[in-house]
Amino acid sequence: MSEKVPVSHPVLCGSIAGSIGGMGVRLHNEAFRAKGLAYTYVSFEPSGAGEAIVAMRALGIRGLGVTMPFKEWVIPFLDALDPTAEEIGAVNTIVNDQGKLTGYNTDAWGAIAALREAADPTGKRIVVLGAGGGAKSVLWALKQYTGDIVLFNRDRERGKKTARLFDIEFGGSIDRVDRSLAYDMLINCTAVGFKSRESVLKRDRIVPRTLVFDAVFVPAKTALLDEAAAVGCVCVSGTRMLMHQACKQFELYTGVPAPVALYETMLGRILGGA
Ligand SMILES: NC(=O)c1ccc[n+]([C@@H]2O[C@H](COP(=O)([O-])OP(=O)(O)OC[C@H]3O[C@@H](n4cnc5c(N)ncnc54)[C@H](OP(=O)(O)O)[C@@H]3O)[C@@H](O)[C@H]2O)c1
Repeated sequence: MSEKVPVSHPVLCGSIAGSIGGMGVRLHNEAFRAKGLAYTYVSFEPSGAGEAIVAMRALGIRGLGVTMPFKEWVIPFLDALDPTAEEIGAVNTIVNDQGKLTGYNTDAWGAIAALREAADPTGKRIVVLGAGGGAKSVLWALKQYTGDIVLFNRDRERGKKTARLFDIEFGGSIDRVDRSLAYDMLINCTAVGFKSRESVLKRDRIVPRTLVFDAVFVPAKTALLDEAAAVGCVCVSGTRMLMHQACKQFELYTGVPAPVALYETMLGRILGGA
């Protein structure tokens, strides 16, 4: 019998993810390598949220990125939520600290970092389109800077419910959005424009020379941003939010500052601009 040789394994992270799981694998592995960290990131397709969390504990997985439809489903299986994830009611990142599993929401972090690169949202009047998970992360972040937010959503009941959650005004369905709203910033958190050339608003309904931020990140330059640019708006791509939220995930997993420029270059390569 040969003697057992101790093997040192890399720290394992991964995603329980839909379509963007593969992107996380490329981004985070490149970043781990660049920082000389013995970490590796893989993509899992678990049979359920509970099963994924049991496996995380059993296998000692350090971190998990979580996308739809797991963002709400994982919550009952965790030991703690950071306040952002708790108030939003959705988790996109789980960190395993010696068996204690904490859920975070780095989308909110990514949203505000992306917005603040372009303009200070403090006290600004902001119109938000959409009422799903992405909108909730954006709204949580915005509420730290301003109370003057009006939400519009196609499904009125869902819109009202999200507006109530954040104690903001519900303006009605998206067809009511026009220039008379006189906002400073408009943020699209609907899925309109994702992998298409559809724009949720045409230029004649966008207030000229304001800021327009589209959370949609495929394509990097959406049809909405083209419409906004045509009336002199400052445009912020959803790729910025994606990049900043990924950097925050890296820091939660490793405790090391993220190589931001590397994430930016990689995302530019994958999505065509960050
Ligand atoms: N950049 C980032 O890091 C980041 C992070 C999170 C999300 N996102 C993006 O944000 C978008 C929304 O994601 P989510 O997680 O919030 O999805 P979700 O929870 O499924 O919500 C979808 C939202 O889009 C609206 N919508 C869908 N189709 C529509 C249409 N044809 N006309 C009008 N409204 C429509 C829905 O309105 P109803 O309620 O009326 O159905 C709802 O408000 C996606 O494109 C996603 O990729 C980006």
